Amino acid sequence: MQTVQATIQERPGNPLILDGYCGRGGVGYAMAELGFNPIGIDKENFCADYPGAFIKADLSDPTALPVTASPDLLWLSPPCQAYSKLTKSEYDNPREEYPTFDDLNVRRVIDRLDPDEYIIENVVTCEDLENPTKLNGRAFGLQFHQERWFETSFPIPSHVEHPQGGGDQCNIPIGGCRGRNDQENRKHRLANAKGIPATWDESHVIAAIPKQYVQYLLHYCPTTPHVNLPDGAPQQTQLAQY
Ligand SMILES: C[S@@+](CC[C@H](N)C(=O)[O-])C[C@H]1O[C@@H](n2cnc3c(N)ncnc32)[C@H](O)[C@@H]1O
Repeated sequence: MQTVQATIQERPGNPLILDGYCGRGGVGYAMAELGFNPIGIDKENFCADYPGAFIKADLSDPTALPVTASPDLLWLSPPCQAYSKLTKSEYDNPREEYPTFDDLNVRRVIDRLDPDEYIIENVVTCEDLENPTKLNGRAFGLQFHQERWFETSFPIPSHVEHPQGGGDQCNIPIGGCRGRNDQENRKHRLANAKGIPATWDESHVIAAIPKQYVQYLLHYCPTTPHVNLPDGAPQQTQLAQY
């Protein structure tokens, strides 16, 4: 197994960014496009897809992680099934059906890796995020809504815009397509808008965090300097609303 120390030695001078629960690499693609060299970690083998170094490891056992250095930034995207609206509509207590942050040892992973900064990403109905920053596509002028929440170790103002009157006029819906052609078409448009390969299956395209969200968060992260705000984000002179 490749260790993080070995990977660091190949990248002197770059911030060490670990992208935990990375999947095929929505966050990884965004970070690579911003000029970073993230290292993806996932229990499934996404080595062929991930846009950078990749480590196959189970993050729920923090003591077994092949890590010999503390990252400048630790990004964690733990699975959302225990918290999502869909599973909440299917089960009385989805926390008993799917792993929570506690089951996954998410906070012990942070303690063990001891990053300078961290970001934990999840869905809007996740009650285990502390004081999260809220972002959605409409606020960045994107064609999809997809609100996501982010607990961060550093202050970031939320950036969300909800449609007037409750209707969602975003023209790439997430879910609810009529047939296979609609579904394929929607997947391609969403993948293009997020800047990831349209060859990924739909669940990975939907799960991928859009580049604009990653860029916005990294702009405020003290250990990833020189990241401009993405288009559509307001210039902030102070973090008064945090
Ligand atoms: C929501 S997806 C991540 C999406 C990713 N952030 C993106 O932008 O494309 C969650 C990932 O967590 C991984 N995962 C679930 N349990 C894990 C564990 N115990 N250790 C490592 N990875 C795990 C899954 O294999 C899945 O790829």
